[in-house]
Amino acid sequence: AELSADGVLDLAPVIPVVVLDDAEAAVPLARALVDGGLPAIEVTLRTPAALDAIVRIAAEVPDAVVGAGTVVRPEDAERSAAAGARFLVSPGCTSRLQVAMAATGLPFLPGVATASEAIALLEDGITAMKFFPAEAAGGIPYLKSIGGPLPQIRFCPTGGISPGNAADYLALGNVGCVGGSWLTPADAVRAGDWERIRKLAAEAAALR
Ligand code: 3PG
Repeated sequence: AELSADGVLDLAPVIPVVVLDDAEAAVPLARALVDGGLPAIEVTLRTPAALDAIVRIAAEVPDAVVGAGTVVRPEDAERSAAAGARFLVSPGCTSRLQVAMAATGLPFLPGVATASEAIALLEDGITAMKFFPAEAAGGIPYLKSIGGPLPQIRFCPTGGISPGNAADYLALGNVGCVGGSWLTPADAVRAGDWERIRKLAAEAAALR
């Protein structure tokens, strides 16, 4: 069955947000996350290695569902799709970016931080969104508040989520999953400490 944006939110309680400097690390890192129980992986387009990393994960880790994050330019959307991304995530959204992401046919989680941004997307039938930057933009109290007038939106809060607050986010009715970079600490990736990453993923997978 085709993956929907709601389906992306339902893949796991946590979407690891990954910054990769070396595409060689992509496959063992993705395997560690999948083995730990986190199949959805957001590779951010913040490094030159990102698209190659997406290509490799898509080709070599069949149980992973690899997506592209930090999609901020319209051309990022098509490039990510061509690399094999199965979903797209953006930290914010403009109408041009939204059109470009929709044109790929892939599910996408556009970033929002205000009611007006969320309503603009609702007007186009989009109900699954990233809430970014979650902690800085108001965190759990904000999500509770916006769930009053806009209960139809399901969020993936990202930005400042940690093992210490993830379970509280996940307990909210309008949170589908959370995103975060804590699963793949830079020193563990550099050292190739895949067992540490697998353990972090396993702890996160057990959050709900
Ligand atoms: C993102 O790109 O969504 C954030 O940079 C991830 O935020 P975190 O590093 O606070 O988890």
